[in-house]
Amino acid sequence: MDKLKICVAGATGWAGSALSRGIFDADDMELVAAISRSHAGKTLGEVIGIQGLTTPIFETAEEALKTSPDVFVEYTKQDVAKFHILSALRSGAHVVVGTSGLSNEDYAEINEVAQDVRRGVLAVGNFALTVVLLQKFAEMAAKYIPHWEIIDYAHPDKKDAPSGTARELANRLSRIGEARLEVPLDQIEGPKETRGARLQGTQVHSVRLPGYVISIDAIFGMPDQKLILRHESGSSAEPYVNGALLAVREVGKLVGLHRGLDSVMKF
Ligand SMILES: NC(=O)c1ccc[n+]([C@@H]2O[C@H](COP(=O)([O-])OP(=O)(O)OC[C@H]3O[C@@H](n4cnc5c(N)ncnc54)[C@H](OP(=O)(O)O)[C@@H]3O)[C@@H](O)[C@H]2O)c1
Repeated sequence: MDKLKICVAGATGWAGSALSRGIFDADDMELVAAISRSHAGKTLGEVIGIQGLTTPIFETAEEALKTSPDVFVEYTKQDVAKFHILSALRSGAHVVVGTSGLSNEDYAEINEVAQDVRRGVLAVGNFALTVVLLQKFAEMAAKYIPHWEIIDYAHPDKKDAPSGTARELANRLSRIGEARLEVPLDQIEGPKETRGARLQGTQVHSVRLPGYVISIDAIFGMPDQKLILRHESGSSAEPYVNGALLAVREVGKLVGLHRGLDSVMKF
């Protein structure tokens, strides 16, 4: 069987380098191109310390896409992600998106292009299996409990807010309904920002402080009882590797935009 040809944008970064190691170790994949501006011209193995990994690093997606990857993984930064994704789709690749910060409007545009070119895009705010389970449990809870809010915690230098995980969870819960508010936001006494941002029908609060890595609470409240679903990540990028590899293997079976790893998992 031919190996899947993969390009990783952001392959020298925290998340991209862990994924690149996973691809290098996988028998069914070949890492044909990597993208990083500061390491262009080197091999990926030199930069992330893997002997025998000779994948070339390119400065731009345009150059990297000349290697004709089957799957393009976007793991860079929000400001360049949409451009990368659209370029990859137009060059014929399927796309896995790990980068956070893209808006629903960005995704609507990406879906249109993906449908046009008959390619799949699998966008996953968090590839960790335990987060996928939190999403499923939260969806179950929202069917029975009409009041909920999300709190997203992260280290102080995380620029995007809310996190990709929080955005994706709010997006999923919006398919079930809008979280009920007893006091509408325009009737709040005091600064209404203290009630968080309303994101697709959910109040979302982002805390950015030293001492936190990445965690999220989905809180469901009922009279005299509450359910708190909490996910906490450690400090390595290891939890994201297996989920991202699964997404890479499965995205070629999709057409158009699909959000969440559970789109390709059996429950
Ligand atoms: N979905 C998930 O499960 C998951 C998990 C972890 C992280 N993330 C998200 O993934 C993204 C990357 O996170 P990270 O922590 O790995 O970041 P990081 O360590 O800062 O790495 C960013 C990578 O992207 C490259 N890059 C940045 N801007 C670029 C540009 N304009 N053109 C080309 N390459 C560019 C960087 O290389 P150069 O600077 O050399 O260009 C580097 O290789 C973030 O949005 C993060 O929130 C998602």
